[in-house]
Amino acid sequence: MKTLVLTAHPDLTKSRINRLWFVALSEQENTTTRDLTAIGGETQQFDVETEQTLLLAHERIVFQFPWYWYSAPAVLKAWIDQVLSYGFAYGPNGDKLKGRECLVLVSTGGPAESYHAGGYNQFTMDELLKPYQQTANLTGMTYLRPFVLNGLAVAEETDLAASVPAMLSHVLDPELDPKIKQARLLKQIAEDQAQAAAIS
Ligand SMILES: Cc1cc2nc3c(=O)[nH]c(=O)nc-3n(C[C@H](O)[C@H](O)[C@H](O)COP(=O)(O)O)c2cc1C
Repeated sequence: MKTLVLTAHPDLTKSRINRLWFVALSEQENTTTRDLTAIGGETQQFDVETEQTLLLAHERIVFQFPWYWYSAPAVLKAWIDQVLSYGFAYGPNGDKLKGRECLVLVSTGGPAESYHAGGYNQFTMDELLKPYQQTANLTGMTYLRPFVLNGLAVAEETDLAASVPAMLSHVLDPELDPKIKQARLLKQIAEDQAQAAAIS
């Protein structure tokens, strides 16, 4: 499985966590990382053909960003608006992303308990990430369980370092789609039953 990581941070050199994740992901096999701010430049203009060709070469698309005002930094919106175009991602023959997987990797300043009903942010991250879920849905991608690291406002260096292996095992898990995991388990059960029947 090939993974494309689209990192949307306004300045990775000033980042505490997304830079760590970006570097760790860049070192993985079968993984392509893209710093969208560096690529899009000041005008946030993307070469649509290059971006779409890259999408076609990967099975899992990861949107990585720090949580800014209950959304992603503007460069990700610019990339989405330009690259997920009519006839490519939606509309007539717009089925090029169908069957791929989409995963959100996000850090928040607010603590985990704030992202619940009754917390000061009122809504869960699953609720607040609905636009990404529906973008995946409309384009025929399977939306995977996001990886969310909360509490960056008070996180210690040890928390940041500890998140790296947890993030890697989540983002690169080939069975993150429960349908894929279930299919393997059912196949295993059928094989075990066939083996038991052959012995008895
Ligand atoms: C402009 C801006 C808006 C932000 N909005 C939110 C927000 O809505 N909710 C939240 O929990 N944190 C918010 N934060 C905190 C960031 O999510 C946090 O600093 C970031 O995840 C840290 O990632 P980094 O170390 O890679 O920069 C905001 C930060 C900035 C600079």
